[in-house]
This record gives sequence, C-alpha cells and structure tokens, in this order.
Amino acid sequence: MSLSDHVSLWQTELAQARPQDILRFALQNFSDLAIAFSGAEDVVLIDMAKKSGLPFRIFSLDTGRLPPETYRYMDQVREHFGIDIEICFPEPAAVESLVTRKGFFSFYRDDHHECCGIRKVAPLKRKLSTLQAWVTGQRMDQSPGTRLGIPVVQIDNHTGKDDQALVKFNPLASWSSSTVWDYLRAFELPYNPLHAQGYVSLGCEPCTRPILPGQHEREGRWWWEDATKKECGLHIGNVQA
Ligand code: ADX
Ligand code: SF4
Repeated sequence: MSLSDHVSLWQTELAQARPQDILRFALQNFSDLAIAFSGAEDVVLIDMAKKSGLPFRIFSLDTGRLPPETYRYMDQVREHFGIDIEICFPEPAAVESLVTRKGFFSFYRDDHHECCGIRKVAPLKRKLSTLQAWVTGQRMDQSPGTRLGIPVVQIDNHTGKDDQALVKFNPLASWSSSTVWDYLRAFELPYNPLHAQGYVSLGCEPCTRPILPGQHEREGRWWWEDATKKECGLHIGNVQA
C-alpha cells in the first residue's frame, strides 16, 4: 500500500478521534516525528504529548522577528515541561540579502511572501527533510478563508516529489478556540501573555496586532493583505486549496 493509501485509511479511522488519541497514534507510528510549536496556544499539544508518556520532539521556527514575550514564553514552556525545543533559524545569507536590498519592513510594500519564505518556509523545509511526519496545531476555525477543509491527517508533499512526501497530523483540526482555552485553563498551562492584551493569532511582531471584539482572529495577521492570502506558506495545502 502506498503512503497516500495509508493516509486515506487513517483519515477515516481518526476523523472522529480525540486529539489525544490522534497524537498518540502519530507518536506510536512514527519515530522521526516532531511537533511544530509556534509559541501560541498550541501548547496543548505539548501537554498531550507529555501525558502520553511516549517520547516526543518539539521544534519552533525562530524568524528573528518574534515578539519579546514569545521568546520568554518559549523558555517558560521549556521549564514547565522539562523539555528541549529545537529552534530553527533562517539562513543568515538570505536574511542579510533581503534586509540589505529592501530594509527591515519590505513586507508592508511587497506583501509577506518573500520574507516568510526566507524566515519561515525555508527553515521549515530544512527541518521537514529530516522527518517522516510532523504535527501542527492548525484548526479549521482559525481561518474560514483557508483552513475550513483541513483534515486530522494528510499527506504533505512540500517538495512536489512524491518520494519525499511526509505525513502531517493536525490533531486539533476540529477544536474551536474556546475549547483550546478551556483546556489551557483546566490544566493551568502557561500561555503567552500577549493573549491577555487582545492578541489572538500570534506570529511575528511586525505582522501581528491585537483584534477588536467581533473581529476574526486572522484579522490580526498581515492585516494589510487580502483575507484569502493570509497563509505564510508553512501549510502548503492551505495555499493551494
Ligand atoms: S501561520 O502559518 O499563520 O504562521 P499559525 O500561526 O496559524 O500559522 O499556526 C498554525 C500552526 O502552524 C501552529 O499551531 C504550529 O503548529 C505551526 N506554526 C506556526 N508558526 C510556527 C513557528 N514559528 N514555528 C513552528 N511552528 C509554527
Ligand atoms: Fe517576515 Fe512578517 Fe512573515 Fe515574520 S510574518 S517572516 S516578519 S513577513
């Protein structure tokens, strides 16, 4: 059976499963697997992984432009769970070239794709090339424009080559933001203090702002761009959808 046949089967088997069980399935079936942690509310995945009692790895993409609160929060998470977080930096020469040619805020003029490509997508690809599977905290309710169709498990063919495809798990796909927050409160997990200042979806400092009551969380990200383009390229299936 091919990898995509397996994934189709798992989609059916896991569609109604609890996030804890999806994560356990992922950890049991893939040794070269890592959880992508953004320094936001997807810390619930780390808690679930810890409670599974199985070995797990966490990585985070440090774009160099994260808010100071996020760096402090990441260290708080390391200490709370007693874990290492594998930090992925962008290629220095690519960042140097971008900011030399275009300055530090080119995304406000050009859109965010070039900067995200260098600071997030290329480091992610480098990390993924070492893995068989990865786990994200993506949820359908994060973006009506781009994430409504995300399944709990999918093929990630980020290189376009079938023999390099890997498996991507989205255990929280069907959870709402309020379910995530119920979990965080129930288990008294640390959260990024920016959430208490009106920030909901969190990313890099220059490209994230608080939202007002009634605004959708994605409106605080790349607010100068069209809603359907608010994907940075980490989640390639969302861009193509
Ligand atoms: S993004 O594509 O717009 O930046 P978002 O902030 O919604 O993504 O986060 C969705 C999921 O993508 C997170 O739960 C996490 O799994 C992964 N992710 C986002 N940003 C990072 C990051 N800097 N490092 C690692 N994983 C990330
Ligand atoms: Fe660059 Fe903004 Fe993308 Fe961060 S979110 S990598 S600062 S364009």
